[in-house]
Amino acid sequence: MLIEKSKFISNTSITKNTYLIKVFSPSIAKTAKPGQFCNIKVSENSFPLLRRPFSICDVEGDYLYFMFDVHGEGTRLLRDKNEGEELDIIGPLGIGFDLIGDYDTAIFIAGGLGSAPFPFLSKNIPAMIEIHSFIGGRSKENVIEYKMKNVSAATDDGSYGFQGNVVELFINKLTAYNTKKIRVFACGPNPMLKALQNVCNEKNINCQLSVETVMACGFGICQGCPIEKYNGDGYFLVCKDGPVFNSLAVKI
Ligand SMILES: Cc1cc2nc3c(=O)[nH]c(=O)nc-3n(C[C@H](O)[C@H](O)[C@H](O)COP(=O)(O)OP(=O)(O)OC[C@H]3O[C@@H](n4cnc5c(N)ncnc54)[C@H](O)[C@@H]3O)c2cc1C
Ligand code: FES
Repeated sequence: MLIEKSKFISNTSITKNTYLIKVFSPSIAKTAKPGQFCNIKVSENSFPLLRRPFSICDVEGDYLYFMFDVHGEGTRLLRDKNEGEELDIIGPLGIGFDLIGDYDTAIFIAGGLGSAPFPFLSKNIPAMIEIHSFIGGRSKENVIEYKMKNVSAATDDGSYGFQGNVVELFINKLTAYNTKKIRVFACGPNPMLKALQNVCNEKNINCQLSVETVMACGFGICQGCPIEKYNGDGYFLVCKDGPVFNSLAVKI
């Protein structure tokens, strides 16, 4: 874990409400792993007090990329940064996706901004493994396909792809993978992750879930991000023991 004074390089709009920022942050970029996150101080003064956590969306050489929608003050400040401004970033944080094991097909499942960690993950999946992506959103404009491969889309309002949620779409397509050894990698809202967890645990599918909670410190000090263990025997901290957990490890 490092604290790096990083340089804001650029901000690109990738959908109507979604931004991709590029930051010069060589030390963090060198050690980052897919599924890890950074805790970003979004202003130079003490407001907002808390840093904001963001998944590492991509790494290119010395540069980090983060993807976000504007929710409140923190993400608004981030969107409005100018080239050359300094950004104080702590990272890489947490434990990312487990890529090791016996599988020939990686299934990416993303809901809304849950698409954020997949560009970097995609680069790190061994070349012989096929990647199939299932992406969901409320409407077409919320389906974020940025750098995703072999996309099947689902929208709540049916404006793009399958009408329904992305887990229903995945269930509908599951028989197509009967002869494959699949591993599921997922990121999105907790109700989506819970539904996916139920399916994968029942069908014995190895499934890695990137979980979101409110966070403060981001590295295990404040105890502010507990998640109950699947067996009920205590809690993990999402920032330190996750944010990615095996679907057999946690109660969502
Ligand atoms: C490990 C981790 C990785 C994350 N990665 C990303 C990412 O890659 N891209 C991204 O856009 N966001 C990501 N988030 C969520 C991100 O941290 C919040 O969007 C951000 O803190 C909002 O800050 P804000 O000041 O703009 O909004 P706030 O002023 O803090 O909140 C404004 C509104 O947004 C809602 N909100 C705040 N945080 C969340 C949240 N975590 N989930 C849902 N609603 C929320 C609040 O309830 C409130 O209604 C991640 C969170 C975690 C824990
Ligand atoms: S955010 Fe402080 S312990 Fe997790």
